[in-house]
Amino acid sequence: MYPFSQSVGQLRTSEIRDLMKLATRPDIISFAGGMPNNDLFPTEAIDEIYKNLPKKIKQAGFQYGPTSGYPPLIEAVKDYLRTKGLPVDENELMITTGSLQAINIVTKVFIDPGDRIITETPCFIGGTSAFKSYQAEIDPVPIDEDGIIIEELEKKLNQKPAPKIVYLTPYFHNPAGIIYSRERKQKVMDLMKGRNIILLEDDPYGEIYFNETDKDLTVPMKVNETDDLPICYTGSFSKILGPGMRLGWLLAKPEIFQKCELVKQSMDACSPTFTQVLANEFLRQNKLEPYLAFLRETYKRRMDIMQNCLEETMPKEVKWVKPKGGFYMWFHLPEGIDATEILKDSIEKGAVFVVGKTFDPHGVKNNWFRLAFSHTPEDKIHEGVEIIANAVKKFI
Ligand SMILES: Cc1ncc(COP(=O)(O)O)c(C=O)c1O
Repeated sequence: MYPFSQSVGQLRTSEIRDLMKLATRPDIISFAGGMPNNDLFPTEAIDEIYKNLPKKIKQAGFQYGPTSGYPPLIEAVKDYLRTKGLPVDENELMITTGSLQAINIVTKVFIDPGDRIITETPCFIGGTSAFKSYQAEIDPVPIDEDGIIIEELEKKLNQKPAPKIVYLTPYFHNPAGIIYSRERKQKVMDLMKGRNIILLEDDPYGEIYFNETDKDLTVPMKVNETDDLPICYTGSFSKILGPGMRLGWLLAKPEIFQKCELVKQSMDACSPTFTQVLANEFLRQNKLEPYLAFLRETYKRRMDIMQNCLEETMPKEVKWVKPKGGFYMWFHLPEGIDATEILKDSIEKGAVFVVGKTFDPHGVKNNWFRLAFSHTPEDKIHEGVEIIANAVKKFI
C-alpha cells in the first residue's frame, strides 16, 4: 500500500472518463462527452493564422510566458469581456489552463480542509472533484428550471460554520442544460450580499444561446458585482474554440487575483503560450463572432433534431427541459429506476450517455441521465435516441 494522501483518497474515478473509452469505439453513438465534434473546429482559420505569424511571435509561442497570461491575449480577452459588460477595469484578468484550473486556483486560495462549499446538485463533476481534492465539505443545493432553489440556498448559507464559496454554473448548466432566470440571479445576489462568501460564477457555455431573444439571460452576475459581494468569474475557450487549446480565464478583484497568481505559479508557471498566441490572433482578427454564429446555429440544429426524436420516442414518464443553449439535456426518470441499468442496455445496442450519479456531489442519485448533443453527428442522433428510448422503456 503506497502512502497516498488523504485528499486523493476522497477522489473517485469519473464515469465520464471511463465512458469516454467506450465513446471512442467506432460503432457506438455517443451522447457522453461534453465536447464539440472534431469536424467543427476552425482548423483552416488556425492554419491561416499560424502561417502568417511573424517568426518572432512564432518563437515566443514556444517560450514560457508570464504566469497571468500572454499580455496581448489578456488585453484581447478583456476587450471581449468588456463587450459583455463585465467590469474588467475594476478587476484583474488571468489566463488559466482551462477554466477548470481557474476553479482549482480559487479553491486553493480560499479552502482549508473541512471548509464548506455550496454547489448546485446536479453539479459539473470537474468542479466537485476539484473541491474534494482540497478536502472541502461539499453542501449541494437542488436546482429547478430557473436555477438554484433559493429557500434551500438560504438555509445552507445560514448554517454554521459559514461556507466560504458558492459555486454556480448559471448559463446552460452542465449537466442540467438550464439557464437561470433574471429573478433567480437577483435573488442569489441579494441573499449573498454582505456575507463575505465568494461567489464562483462558472460560465463556459454562455455564448452558446440558440435564440437572440435569450441573449440577455446570459448576462453574468459579475456585471452587477458590488463591494459586499465578491464574485470570481471564470470562462473558457474550450466550448467556443477548442478544449485542446487548454485556455480559460479568471476575472477577480485585485486582492484575490494576487493570491491566485501565486498559486498558479506553483501549478504550471504559465498556460501554454503556443495556444495563447493563436487564440489572441483569433480574437484580434475578429474571427470569434462569425465562428460563434456558426456554432450557435449548428448546436441549435442538433438540439432540435434531438428534441423531435425524444418527443417521438421517449416514454411520457421521462421528463426533461428543452434547453435554450449549451450542450446538454438532462432527463428525470421515475423514482426507483436506475440509469446505470438503462446505460448497460444502451451500450449493448450501440449508444452511450452519462448516468445521473456522476453529477451528484454525493455520487448517489441515479434516476437521472445526461445526453450531450454537441458532438453527435446529426445523422446519428435519431438512431441513438431511439436506442436509449427503447432501453428506457424496458425499465419503466
Ligand atoms: C461547467 C463547466 N465548467 C468548467 C469546465 C471546464 O472546462 P475547461 O477546463 O476545458 O475550460 C467544464 C467542462 O466541461 C464545464 O462543463
